[in-house]
Amino acid sequence: MAIVEKLHVLKFRNLTDQYLLPNKNINVLIGENGQGKTNFIESLYYLGHGRSFKTKSLKDVIPFDEKQIQISAIIDGQKITINKSREKRLVLVDGKKISSNSLLSQILPTQIISPDRGFVVGGPPKLKRSYLDWGVFHHNEKTLKTYASYKKTLKNINRLLVSGNQNQLGEWLTRLASLSVDITKERNDYIGKLTKTLEKNLSHKLKNLVEPSFDFKFVLQTGWPKEVDALSQNKIETYLLNNTDAFFKSKHLSYGPHRSSIDYFLNDQGENFLSRGEQKKMSIVFWMLQILMLVENEKKPIVLVDDISSELDNIKIKSIVDCLSEIKVQIFITDIGNKKLPLSEKNTTNYKIESGLIAGLKG
Ligand SMILES: Nc1ncnc2c1ncn2[C@@H]1O[C@H](COP(=O)(O)OP(=O)(O)O)[C@@H](O)[C@H]1O
Ligand SMILES: [Mg+2]
Repeated sequence: MAIVEKLHVLKFRNLTDQYLLPNKNINVLIGENGQGKTNFIESLYYLGHGRSFKTKSLKDVIPFDEKQIQISAIIDGQKITINKSREKRLVLVDGKKISSNSLLSQILPTQIISPDRGFVVGGPPKLKRSYLDWGVFHHNEKTLKTYASYKKTLKNINRLLVSGNQNQLGEWLTRLASLSVDITKERNDYIGKLTKTLEKNLSHKLKNLVEPSFDFKFVLQTGWPKEVDALSQNKIETYLLNNTDAFFKSKHLSYGPHRSSIDYFLNDQGENFLSRGEQKKMSIVFWMLQILMLVENEKKPIVLVDDISSELDNIKIKSIVDCLSEIKVQIFITDIGNKKLPLSEKNTTNYKIESGLIAGLKG
């Protein structure tokens, strides 16, 4: 159930020290370019992930004249505090120090609908994987451990490949094959459930986003060559052992779940044949499906949409917001404010943001 009841930004990018008591339905931040709209979205994302979606470097998010970031929020009565500087990284939940960001994502699942980062349909594999694994993780939190082990194993293998060291490579490849099967199973399972969610909601919650004849499919590309059965540890292992010479030559492992992707089809047409408008629409459907599925599993995410009217017309904005309102998800939207957004006044609080300071707006 995530609802942000209170937000306190003390130090984060250009945002000034301030409190916000968000509306539990729709929050709209209007501001000119460079005022802090994306920074605000990023601060909420940071609370739910312990990291940014824009940068890997802590330095980037620390205000120019400060040495640390400090943000906190009350979510469903629980307090998250993040206080990070170069020397210390403190993440607290109700005053207790936590060491893993995964607890943050459990308290504050955050879906970002981000035209700015690109659309998943027709988008780069990295973006597709990022959305896919967001879903997989929230569907089964235990997968995080598998992913972490996979990452570590891959790192070790690549290190051996760079140094040309045969020693222990076989053991690591066996381990990688086993973890790979686990990850592919989880991803397949998730995509299967997502398809069910699509079928279930086509005629109701998604009806404003899609026509009745709509046939939207997503297929997992496992990251292994087509001829390798990605659900068989043995087959993967054999493939790896037969090709070690090539891997030593390229000095890295270019196959596996870290290279996985999703292929999207609309009425049996591959995503690359779709128009940009269609890709956009499909991406929205995919994002909404992930949210719908999470809500069905009684884990409500908050939804962040930055610069909403830059890529989306009023019809799309209305269908997104109507769908999210129906399932009572808390939404944070930013916009430049050039045109009136099609939002129900009853459920919306409007704010203005100027030089990093958010102020309430009437109407
Ligand atoms: N670490 C930082 N400290 C202070 N200001 C920052 C920091 N990072 C970015 N900014 C400032 O934030 C502003 C951009 O904010 P942003 O949220 O991207 O604006 P927009 O409203 O256009 O989305 C710029 O003026 C930039 O200089
Ligand atoms: Mg912006």
